[in-house]
Amino acid sequence: MNVISSPLELVQLLVGYQPPAVLRAASQLGLFDALTDQPQPVSEIANQLAVDSSNLNTLLAALHQLGLVSISGDGFAATPFTFGHLRSNSDLDMVIKKEAFFAEAWLGLDEVIRSGRPILAPWKERLHTQSDQTKEFLYALDALARFTGPALAELPELVPGRILDVGGGLGTYARMLAEAGSTMVLVDLPEVIDLARSHLADLPNGTVELVAADIFSEPACGIETESVDAALVSHMLHD
Ligand SMILES: C[S@@+](CC[C@H](N)C(=O)[O-])C[C@H]1O[C@@H](n2cnc3c(N)ncnc32)[C@H](O)[C@@H]1O
Repeated sequence: MNVISSPLELVQLLVGYQPPAVLRAASQLGLFDALTDQPQPVSEIANQLAVDSSNLNTLLAALHQLGLVSISGDGFAATPFTFGHLRSNSDLDMVIKKEAFFAEAWLGLDEVIRSGRPILAPWKERLHTQSDQTKEFLYALDALARFTGPALAELPELVPGRILDVGGGLGTYARMLAEAGSTMVLVDLPEVIDLARSHLADLPNGTVELVAADIFSEPACGIETESVDAALVSHMLHD
């Protein structure tokens, strides 16, 4: 356990919200699309984005501090990482937008504790009432899983075998494990299974079996326990 023992350490904790806010602002403004690998004056970037030049200068300086923008002469340029990974709708841009959505919800934590009620409606409800946001969330999870999935595909507990992927979302892990040699059974809610079906349409028949079920009302999901070698439960117990 890290024990806080000085006021400055606490202040460092307190300002932890700033880097995510800077990333969110840059993403929302389309700044990562406007930056190139060649330095451009801030006025030029501000014109392109139709934003206030002086405040954009501060945002770019903050991104420089975070190691995402380089400065040379009077100009700002994307670093190779920023240029390659942070443009609109890139995997990491989707993750930035997902975290920005949750950051807002976290600001209501005191109310959650006081009332005992969640800030966000349950996932099953949001699948119907906020289908665009929930779809974006699933695509961001897909992007994240593509970063972490290759390590899973090397686990002898998961490959080869018949593996249950509980709350498997769009099937990113299921795809990777199937490609590594396992037979997968992906269980998720019906709306998500529909999305997973098209997401996995290119896989050979039978490599990923799709099961539409609510695991809280149907814990066994019609699957014989003995018929699977292991179950993967990732980022699933969230409501
Ligand atoms: C945060 S996503 C995780 C997706 C994937 N496992 C991953 O780690 O990237 C949680 C998934 O659990 C599913 N889920 C939530 N409640 C469920 C339930 N009651 N029954 C089945 N799936 C559920 C959601 O639809 C969603 O696809």
